[in-house]
Amino acid sequence: MKHFDISESSQRERIQTVIYDGAEGASMAVANEIRDIIKERQKSGKNAVLGLATGSTPVRLYRELIRMHRDEGLSFANVITFNLDEYYGLSGDHPESYRRFMQDQLFDHVDIPEANTHVPDGLVAREEVFASCSAYEEAINAAGGIDIQILGIGRTGHIGFNEPGSGPDSRTRLVTLDSLTRRDAARDFLGEQNVPRHAITMGVGTILDAKKVFLLAWGEAKAEVIAQAVEETPTDIIPASFLQSHANCVFNVDRSAASQLTRVLHPWLVGPVEWSAPMTRKAVQWLARKVNKPLLKLVDEDYSENGMGDLLTEKGSSYDLNINLFNITQHTITGWPGGKPGADDSHRPERATPHPKRSLILSPEPLDDVFCLGGTMHRLANQGHEVTIAYQTSGNLAVPDTEVRRAIELIIELGEERQADTEAKFARTVEKHLDAKGQFGADTAEVRHLKGLIRRSEARSSARLLGLDISHLSFLDLPFYENGRYRRFSMTAEDVSIMKALLEKIQPHQIFATGLGHDPLSVPAISFEVLREALKQCEGSDWLKECNIWLYRGLGTEWEAHEIDMAVPLSPDELKNKIQGIYQHQTQRSQSPSSSQKGPSDAWNLAEQVNRNTAEIYDALGLAEYEAIEGFKLWNA
Ligand code: PGA
Repeated sequence: MKHFDISESSQRERIQTVIYDGAEGASMAVANEIRDIIKERQKSGKNAVLGLATGSTPVRLYRELIRMHRDEGLSFANVITFNLDEYYGLSGDHPESYRRFMQDQLFDHVDIPEANTHVPDGLVAREEVFASCSAYEEAINAAGGIDIQILGIGRTGHIGFNEPGSGPDSRTRLVTLDSLTRRDAARDFLGEQNVPRHAITMGVGTILDAKKVFLLAWGEAKAEVIAQAVEETPTDIIPASFLQSHANCVFNVDRSAASQLTRVLHPWLVGPVEWSAPMTRKAVQWLARKVNKPLLKLVDEDYSENGMGDLLTEKGSSYDLNINLFNITQHTITGWPGGKPGADDSHRPERATPHPKRSLILSPEPLDDVFCLGGTMHRLANQGHEVTIAYQTSGNLAVPDTEVRRAIELIIELGEERQADTEAKFARTVEKHLDAKGQFGADTAEVRHLKGLIRRSEARSSARLLGLDISHLSFLDLPFYENGRYRRFSMTAEDVSIMKALLEKIQPHQIFATGLGHDPLSVPAISFEVLREALKQCEGSDWLKECNIWLYRGLGTEWEAHEIDMAVPLSPDELKNKIQGIYQHQTQRSQSPSSSQKGPSDAWNLAEQVNRNTAEIYDALGLAEYEAIEGFKLWNA
């Protein structure tokens, strides 16, 4: 039976949605359910039938199941699995095939009989696709139907590969992938052009037949689609919304993925709220945007007609509320991101002293820094602060082969000219490795190293343009990334000790970092975890007590106005200079700008757009009109 959560705050939700602090807890809850059904069936000598998903989302769940097998002796001998989908045209041993993924992430680590694991066959001949898909459905039925179906969700609203347009009755079939889905997979395939165009997927109807469904979602990139699926009328534009008709479906999401649900985004619309300072700020700024007025022009009716009458009663009048909010917002603006020496700093985001400051900018990969805070970095350097940029990972996975071949040819030619044997020899080795790896093979350590060096040179060039002292760039090459691949990273103790050593060496007065709220297996999220752990280990240090940690939101996104604690305006020239800085990252030109943003795939326009947009919002709220703004949120660890 479905358990409806009928609390007022979730009244708009048409699917039971449970919000967890993080992916960890949400995954454990599902792992426990799976364990219970496996054990229950074991008692009666029956099988448990699981519908499984791939992608980053279920990785933690699979890690937990593996742990249960290893540490608690949970046997999978009575488990039968059916995976949702497979890329069409990929063989099971292709590194990006979903069969390979399942072997690596789960099957090879538990005692499930090989014959019990089913993944659609990606290599079936075109004329046999139909029969093969029917056979897949029959096999599910023959096994007794799916007991628990695990789902992720794509930003298109797909479940499995049921892209927009998939009806609620659709069955297992061959489908064409949406361009946004292909863009999201571009990193895995080292370029969008390599991502298969078709896939075989269970249908929405097949999924709806499962006895119980858990959909999991993490990170802010999923927030919008989760809100649509949960709160809006079912439509084939968001196939996941058809889950509303399932009698036993639960969405387990983390805070970031829940952030666009009405009860989180606009709680005052669905019930009484406690009017804390941040809640008031959020609500009043929302109101101003909603009624399209600057803060100082809001009147009592605006408040009372938009679910904020109690706020008015509590605070007295719209006049007081407006002024208060205007001042708060005004005080976020500063052209002095390192603090203004000699100035009264009681209403400034950053302290005046000490001056100059030691500012540490953490960039998960080269490009994040200039893309998100190029203007701020330029100001910090100009205002005399000691700025270190630490690139947490090398970013070598995002360098196309064509770029490294160019570098190889250059090195070989120069090596021959100068009879510099060692370099030329190294370059030839790298060339051989590239030739041998085939289209989707993994790069050797040597190839990755050279690719990393290319990104270093781009980072230097960019930093130089922004007026930074490039002897203060630090390339950490964190091992989680060097030894890993997309969607499969995991933090190690070595990562943390490298980060800790850097913090202790610099003892920064301020740190700029990103990754909070991102997909937990993404490079920024893990880079942030590494920082968080390292900070924990530095707890009690004098420098840390005095250190402000400023969060930037990440590639292609920006904080909402009510979240911004420091807004650094950029002049037209500064914005131009920043864009020039971004241009230095030549190898990233065709890369997808962000895993968390719909929109143009050209990173180079996106930064400009985002910063202009923030300035427009400030302007609309009735504050000064700037060309562009970079926003930061103060992190209270
Ligand atoms: P992800 O993919 O888990 O890698 O985000 C989910 C999906 O596309 O279904």
